[in-house]
Amino acid sequence: MVDAALPFTPRGSATDADRRAATDAVARPVVVQLRSVRKTYNPGTPIATEVLHGIDLVIQRGEFCAIVGPSGSGKSTLLNIVGLLDRPTSGMLAVCGKETTSLDDGALTRLRGHSIGFVFQYHNLITAFTAIENVMMPMLGAGEFPNDAMHTRAAVLIDAVGLKRWQDNLAGNLSGGQQQRVALARALAMDAALVLADEPTGNLDSRSADEVFALLRRFNRDHGTTVLFVTHNAVLADRCDKTIEVVDGQITGS
Ligand SMILES: Nc1ncnc2c1ncn2[C@@H]1O[C@H](COP(=O)(O)OP(=O)(O)OP(=O)(O)O)[C@@H](O)[C@H]1O
Ligand SMILES: [Mg+2]
Repeated sequence: MVDAALPFTPRGSATDADRRAATDAVARPVVVQLRSVRKTYNPGTPIATEVLHGIDLVIQRGEFCAIVGPSGSGKSTLLNIVGLLDRPTSGMLAVCGKETTSLDDGALTRLRGHSIGFVFQYHNLITAFTAIENVMMPMLGAGEFPNDAMHTRAAVLIDAVGLKRWQDNLAGNLSGGQQQRVALARALAMDAALVLADEPTGNLDSRSADEVFALLRRFNRDHGTTVLFVTHNAVLADRCDKTIEVVDGQITGS
């Protein structure tokens, strides 16, 4: 499995003891906590719109959660806030035990870089770079690891998502399913405790969607990675451990 060959252990990554704890529901630490989170776009203007109306949510380590709900209900807004890409207008958000609302932009960027991996519907790869270079990007961004260690880890991850043969191909020349698997390897590069996936299979045929889902599931199982998976696909949502339903900016069921 991937772990044995990891060339370095990024800060905050799972130890064996952590992973055992992840399987112990009683001892599971909280990875994400929101209390009364509200989000208003364009506040203080005539087009101000509140799209999240007081979200309370607790996600524990190792949970694999589907986030479902109608288009426009606020799923991506919620994910962007949990991912520290956007700030709540009010309320409390803690990620990996750190209260975030008082952090400045630099501290948020560091917490995001070390704790959170992202997979979007459109892969957001740099198409002029190779697959392996794309996977190295988050590690280059952190600026903490030697080049050969970054390359070795990226190669292990590329292999884990089944793309060893394509590792030196330009990302722009890969198929949609392959590109999404590269995006997944990139999301796992820093061994993030939390992976946020916003419709990662929305653009894929059903076979590629199944493959991407299965890979995410495997990393969740093997590494205790917490996953929030936004999807309109009821079959995939059913395969998650828990469903969070967002309707009109509120959580209605779980
Ligand atoms: N940057 C923005 N500025 C203003 N309004 C926004 C912005 N981003 C999203 N919205 C609005 O917030 C609401 C929720 O949008 P969001 O993208 O979170 O929905 P969603 O549940 O992810 O929908 P979908 O399933 O279609 O992706 C929508 O009414 C949308 O128009
Ligand atoms: Mg969305």
